[in-house]
Amino acid sequence: MSKLAIKGGSPLRTKSFPKWPVWDDNEINNLKKVVESGKWGALHGDQVKTFSEKYANYHQAKYGICVNSGTTALKVALQAIGVETGQEVILPCYTFIASATAILDAGAIPVFVDIDPDTYNIDANQIKGAITDRTAAIMPVHFGGRPCNMDEINGIAKKHNLKVIEDAAQAWGSEWKNQKVGAIGDAGGFSFQSSKNITAAEGGIILTNDEETAKFCRSFSNCGRIEGGVWYEHYYLGGNFRMSEFQGAVLSAQFERYPEMKAKREKNAKYLNEQLSQIDGIETLKADDNITSNSLHLFICRYQKEHFKDVPKNTFIDAMRKEGFILSAGYSIPLYTQPVFKNLAFGARGKKVDVGVDYTSYHLPETEKACYEEAIWVPQSVLLGEQDDMKDIVNGIIKVKDNVDELVENKM
Ligand SMILES: Cc1ncc(COP(=O)(O)O)c(C=O)c1O
Repeated sequence: MSKLAIKGGSPLRTKSFPKWPVWDDNEINNLKKVVESGKWGALHGDQVKTFSEKYANYHQAKYGICVNSGTTALKVALQAIGVETGQEVILPCYTFIASATAILDAGAIPVFVDIDPDTYNIDANQIKGAITDRTAAIMPVHFGGRPCNMDEINGIAKKHNLKVIEDAAQAWGSEWKNQKVGAIGDAGGFSFQSSKNITAAEGGIILTNDEETAKFCRSFSNCGRIEGGVWYEHYYLGGNFRMSEFQGAVLSAQFERYPEMKAKREKNAKYLNEQLSQIDGIETLKADDNITSNSLHLFICRYQKEHFKDVPKNTFIDAMRKEGFILSAGYSIPLYTQPVFKNLAFGARGKKVDVGVDYTSYHLPETEKACYEEAIWVPQSVLLGEQDDMKDIVNGIIKVKDNVDELVENKM
């Protein structure tokens, strides 16, 4: 008789995990206020303005500029910090495609480097080797919410006269040495898309401490207008990337309960890290005392199939799902093997555009290992459960491991 649910046994867990998004009367009341005010646009109401000030303040940043997505936040920030057409921006390859396409949208060229398998963040040692005379900036991605080593990155940037734009799309309130991410470099972009720990379905914000950068962000995201200018007067190439008051209203409510939720995720992740580090074949990411806070958009661990009788990661994940757990294999295609990059399909209707980089020549072993073999993600909403829920996850892994023989013939 099989024990594993994937083979017809009983699932270890039938209870559901917390749902996402979370909302209550605060979201509803804030939205109602906006509807009834008739001020639905951010240029007339005060929801977006108030939220952006509060958010920037919480992140120890001087300026916060709300926009309509995290992708837009990165693109606008790149242009505002002065990255020019044809210049290169160095970023880790293990990230969401938007980190790279925002660079292309800004007219620049993404140059990928590998990640450090201990952190799943950019490997700072590889940045130096990727710098050319066309490099304008480094884009560290605080992956899953885990802050990058900003001392190293800012140090390299300073030495080579480069800008730093933080992709903090997943890192609301994450801290490197007690400093919140986003404006540790020259500017940073955050996302409020549906899956994110603070969400209004869509939306983003740029943080910076530089007044000029903030001024250009405001202009580029508002059709090239300038402060004090007349409505139909446009100074720069911009677009309408503004956030609406509805989004601002929801985000204000989301933001209010954020610290409490963040603390809960951190507590549960600490427990999971402690427990999972005792299971051979499940590697947790390396602890680092410099990380004083982690938003934990994703709880990440590394699956090592040699401890699971060579059963591939995807089979393990399928077995865990059938046991009643929510987890995923994460990105399974390194960005340089994505069709858009392989084919340089950056032009009109996907036409090839030669940007001087041959993405087919890339081979970044740690990124490939994460994509194909090792990375396992548990989404942030699961971390909103109780300790018993975390215990179940640990027991689920132990159950699959103890009965891994049942999966061996399943090998792909
Ligand atoms: C690392 C990273 N960068 C950028 C983005 C883009 O954000 P958005 O989806 O709001 O455009 C995301 C969103 O998924 C992300 O995870």
